[in-house]
Amino acid sequence: MTQSTGRFITFEGGEGVGKSTQIHRLAGVLRRRGHDVLVTREPGGSLGAEAVRYVLLSGAAEEFGVRMEAVLFAAARSDHVEEVIRPAVSEGAIVLCDRFMDSSRVYQGVTGNLEPQFVRNLERIAVNGMIPDLTLVLDLPAEAGLRRAKARVGTDAQPDRFEKEELATHEKRREAFLDLTRTEPDRCLLIDASQSEDAVALAILAAVEPVLQDEATSGSARDRKA
Ligand code: TYD
Repeated sequence: MTQSTGRFITFEGGEGVGKSTQIHRLAGVLRRRGHDVLVTREPGGSLGAEAVRYVLLSGAAEEFGVRMEAVLFAAARSDHVEEVIRPAVSEGAIVLCDRFMDSSRVYQGVTGNLEPQFVRNLERIAVNGMIPDLTLVLDLPAEAGLRRAKARVGTDAQPDRFEKEELATHEKRREAFLDLTRTEPDRCLLIDASQSEDAVALAILAAVEPVLQDEATSGSARDRKA
């Protein structure tokens, strides 16, 4: 069955929770079922946003402060939404995005200590109505996630701008992501990422299937042409 109405699904969580592995597994399953699937990520996903990605992850913007970084994440997001996500969803694709606005709420807002109003204003402008139909929050104790992230890039590799922060900061992010699933239960669903890879994949598919079937979900939670 091919869906005529697109969907926007985001994946969130701390470092090393397995988002990209699971996104690719889900994309495979959905494509085999005949869906048009677009896999993308943040920061990045469009030409303009990929140009900003390096500035953010290399730490080049760190010395200019968290506000500057937050604005750069928002600039990248705006380009990504308008150039890639909105057009794909409008054409009927299922867009699977590795991180989105909730990462800014957590990394820049909660652990960056930015004023909530500033973060909300940036979000409103960057997202411009393109609120995800579903956000899957993959949850793992921070220490386990960091261990996985390190194993993935190799023990000698340098951690990126955000990975290098203290364990307590990563734990605070984990709590902030968990809070999201409590404060926005209609959009954000918790997935226990400490299970086996197959079990996580099954839990994700079970969460996604109703969203694909539910015509009422599409477009009701957002104004895509905002
Ligand atoms: P990336 O290498 O894509 O890794 P990950 O597998 O962790 O997603 O790194 C993205 C980093 O940028 C990650 O540490 C989270 C951070 N980030 C923010 O701080 N704010 C944001 O809005 C986004 C999208 C990412």
